[in-house]
Amino acid sequence: MKNVLVIGSTGQIGSELTMKIRRMIPEGNVVAGFIKGAEPKGELLESGPSAEADVCNGEQLLDVVKKYKIDTIYNLAALLSAVAERKPQLAWHIQIDGLMNILEIARENGCAVFTPSSIGSFGPETPRQNTPQDTIQRPRSMYGCTKVATELLSDYYFHKYGVDTRSVRFPGLISNVTLPGGGTTDYAVEIYYAAVKGEEFVCPIAPGTFMDMMYMPDALKAAVDIMNADPSRLVHRNSFNIASMSFDPEILRAKITEHIPGFKMRYEVDPVRQAIAESWPDKMDDSCAREEWDWKPSYDLEGMTVDMIDALRKKLL
Ligand code: SER
Repeated sequence: MKNVLVIGSTGQIGSELTMKIRRMIPEGNVVAGFIKGAEPKGELLESGPSAEADVCNGEQLLDVVKKYKIDTIYNLAALLSAVAERKPQLAWHIQIDGLMNILEIARENGCAVFTPSSIGSFGPETPRQNTPQDTIQRPRSMYGCTKVATELLSDYYFHKYGVDTRSVRFPGLISNVTLPGGGTTDYAVEIYYAAVKGEEFVCPIAPGTFMDMMYMPDALKAAVDIMNADPSRLVHRNSFNIASMSFDPEILRAKITEHIPGFKMRYEVDPVRQAIAESWPDKMDDSCAREEWDWKPSYDLEGMTVDMIDALRKKLL
């Protein structure tokens, strides 16, 4: 990995991943790919090259790949689960037609490709506890349909053409830098913002609904480590379960209250997000990632909560 294109560089994952990779390989070109209306600003813009790179525009992508001699593509363009339910055709177009553009360019130009999958690739028939690496994947959401197709297409391009595709199934990601937009797990980010601002939080997910979650520094580490992993050790490729913590809104509320006494939360359950959440695993088994590329998270709920509150106090107060 030397010349890297991050597609979706201004999004929740991309904004932090681009900066991390730039720090890792200062001698390389780490291109912040963006679409019109979501241009990079500030440090992201100033610390390296950026280029318009719309997954739905294959010619534009090819130009960027050739101009910067790209060897690794992080494809982070996606509509998250709740938005994808409102715009299913657009979600398919971005997530799958866009992926096909990328995989074809990767095949012709020798690029490695990371396209994340998600807990959303599972469905109601999937075992909910210690969800195995290889198990039933029959999602009911459009987001999930695109993620299963992403895993299959990525593996297809590896087996058929030798394209070096690898990825992980991200849990809900929690960060203090860039907000997610339109996901089912967004509540676990928004709750910290409300708590730090001293506001009551209105939770759209019902008590007792467990989902895997992860602090962004661990997610970024996974995205880098999987692409740097020794390929001879990889039995799986697309995509690895990775896990670090699982909680429901009550556990999260209680944890935040330990640090911000008096924090208040009430429920106004959103039926769309709730139905999606109930179809996802409670807790994934990530032993294959641990065995095949030494995956190990650093943050648990306590460590994340301390860090989130500290960072958000500096940012918001
Ligand atoms: N965080 C995503 C969502 O909620 C799932 O990967 O849509």
